[in-house]
Amino acid sequence: MVRTGATVRTGTVARTAALACVAAVLALSLASSPAEAQPPTSSWTTFDPRAPRSAPALLRRGEIAYEARCQLCHGRVAPGATPGFGARMAGTEALAAKYRGTKPAVLEDRTDLTPLVVKYYVRHGSGIMPFFRKTEVSDADLDAIAAYLCRPRAPPARSAR
Ligand code: HEC
Repeated sequence: MVRTGATVRTGTVARTAALACVAAVLALSLASSPAEAQPPTSSWTTFDPRAPRSAPALLRRGEIAYEARCQLCHGRVAPGATPGFGARMAGTEALAAKYRGTKPAVLEDRTDLTPLVVKYYVRHGSGIMPFFRKTEVSDADLDAIAAYLCRPRAPPARSAR
């Protein structure tokens, strides 16, 4: 087919019109999507952002995020375990040394933590505990972790009293 100047011009006009349409649609969609309509920020690994934000769902989300991010250091030291997962828990061992039995070494057994304390340690770190960026533990996940660790519970039974 021989290309004439007219076909080239028609093609150019059509392309320009199409581009204008795309630009108009983009401008419209940007203008009509208010930022406050976005769901709360979420971490990409640990939870389903569509889950309802009721208390049990929040605690469950906190538990999942805790297992993903904190458990590896703050879990229970398995009695008589051979080296490997569960044998050495840096956080549990450090807290056992810090409190010398006056508080439970396993974070999940503590009943004295407040959300502010949990959030402070997670965002700032302490000793060999790393701090966690918002891209690693989102604010929403941290709220859930704090709610999980500070959930109302009966204090653990003390045998020596
Ligand atoms: C790499 C191991 C590691 C990870 C992962 C870790 N921690 Fe820690 N955490 C520690 C250590 C070790 C300490 C004790 C630090 C010290 O003695 O200064 C600690 C201390 C804490 C304390 C202070 C408790 C107290 O009474 O002093 C809190 C709260 C805490 N961690 C929460 C968390 C949470 C929540 C997560 C998960 C988001 C987490 N940690 C992940 C190692 C870890």
